Amino acid sequence: MSEASADLSAAVLISGGGSNLQAFIDATASGELPLNLCVVLSNKPTAAGLVRARKAGISVECVAHQDYPQRALFDAALVETLDKYQPDLIILAGFMRILTTTFVDHFAGRILNIHPSLLPKYPGLDTHQRAIDAGDQWHGCTVHFVTAELDSGAAIIQGRVPVLAGDTADELAARVLVVEHKIYPQATAMIAAGRLEYRDGCAWLDGERLEEPVQIQTDVL
Ligand code: GRF
Repeated sequence: MSEASADLSAAVLISGGGSNLQAFIDATASGELPLNLCVVLSNKPTAAGLVRARKAGISVECVAHQDYPQRALFDAALVETLDKYQPDLIILAGFMRILTTTFVDHFAGRILNIHPSLLPKYPGLDTHQRAIDAGDQWHGCTVHFVTAELDSGAAIIQGRVPVLAGDTADELAARVLVVEHKIYPQATAMIAAGRLEYRDGCAWLDGERLEEPVQIQTDVL
């Protein structure tokens, strides 16, 4: 992946509202992000993000996790479905299933996720409330490469927002979400431009190993 390519294709995996998916739809439609969104896949047939995908003319797929008795079988079905589209990148955008090595090894080094915390702080769920409860001054989100270990692959970009006095988890989540919509397409644009890759368990940007994620401080209040 050393040259810029407008032909890079990506599958976006969702479970819910798909506001991050929308950020990708908008960034590709405006030409700001040279990426072909080849398919949107949901594990929930009712995910509102599927409506956004259809409206944008993107192919949609649904693989319902309840139909599979084991995680590895569900992951194998995901792989089979996604392979029809031959995506270069897998973008997890609010996809609320833990992925096993069946999936992660198949798309090794080509899976991105956004997590609503400043990783390594607060992997897992309820990140906003946990940041408030801990009295943190700063919270935010992290785009990272995905490994089989939850929310722990090499971090690429972090966006920080202040935690304000009296913030509820919902208020803080809404402020973080605005930043998610900026940094996720930005990280993907770096891959599309051939500037960013995953190698030897690390993120490499412009040929240098990223020791720390790129920090984006925002004025979102
Ligand atoms: C985002 O906060 C994302 O970080 C988390 O789930 C949420 C998905 O939101 N993993 P949306 O479906 O993109 O609106």
